[in-house]
Amino acid sequence: MPRIGVLTSGGDAPGMNAAIRATVRCGTDAGFTMLGIARGYAGLIEGDVLPLDNRAVGGIIERGGTMLRSARSPEFMESSGQQRALATLQQHSIDGLIVIGGNGSLRGAQWLNEQGVPTVGMPASIDNDIPGSRMAIGVDSALNTVVDCLNRLRDTAVAHERAFVVEVMGRKSGYIALMGGLAGGAEIILLPEHPVSLDRVADIVKRGLDLGKRHSIIVVAEGFSPKGSTMASVSPARAIATRLSELGLVETRLTILGHLQRGGSPTAFDRILASRFGRASVSAFLENDPAVMLSYDGCGIVPRPFSTLDAPCENVDQAILDLADTVAH
Ligand code: F6P
Repeated sequence: MPRIGVLTSGGDAPGMNAAIRATVRCGTDAGFTMLGIARGYAGLIEGDVLPLDNRAVGGIIERGGTMLRSARSPEFMESSGQQRALATLQQHSIDGLIVIGGNGSLRGAQWLNEQGVPTVGMPASIDNDIPGSRMAIGVDSALNTVVDCLNRLRDTAVAHERAFVVEVMGRKSGYIALMGGLAGGAEIILLPEHPVSLDRVADIVKRGLDLGKRHSIIVVAEGFSPKGSTMASVSPARAIATRLSELGLVETRLTILGHLQRGGSPTAFDRILASRFGRASVSAFLENDPAVMLSYDGCGIVPRPFSTLDAPCENVDQAILDLADTVAH
């Protein structure tokens, strides 16, 4: 009976629990003994291993976070930590691993494969910045949270004829800002991939006022950097709010959504995607092809080589940004 471990690593994402549930239940159905590793690679280093049967993963499909807990593990980047992680796998006779997480976590899975540990990677990150996968677990839930918040902010923005600068997550990727902004009817969307000057932002707000718009919603990814700005240490969203207030164009408020975006019950889409990924991760072992990272191509689950991580991620689409701008007029 192969013994397969599963861990969640990096920033948590709604739907991770649904992925654990599906992985464990498909695994036991295939005759595997399933084990959980707590706190991602940190737990792997420390030998934090627990048995997982079908009952252990009951009642979690609707829960955000991850029952296995998660961590970012700087130790796993170092040789001593890596050797301890390999020792844990040996001590618990773990034949293969399923890693649920974002780019850094999948790089860890790639490294384990290179050490001869059959490891499948499953994309889960609200940032949707994983090369080769159109969607990752958690993205849809985070987007729905952002849209819900934008709806609420628009109510008060309209009532007070204010501009709201809303910072969303995404240090390197503007996917949440782009898609959340489009779905939430934002007037301006600012992404790390497309630097724009503060003056340009002010011009767009002015254009809106000239068009008779009494309020505006400006969605800013946390990794956005204003073109030509020297204020590297200041939050870009705060810099925009300050500039708009200084110009006296419109009364402005700042809202940082922060970790609210990472919590909450996963959407139906994320539960279904996570369940499909879970089954595909077990299938990869059954088909003797575990050295893969799974991806979603917009239709189905596709296994890809880990070298896919070397390519740029193409989920932020200029055409969508143009569309969002056109429909904001
Ligand atoms: O990886 C997802 C993410 O939520 C990013 O969007 C954000 O920049 C980062 O994690 C925050 O990480 P932490 O929770 O460790 O502060």
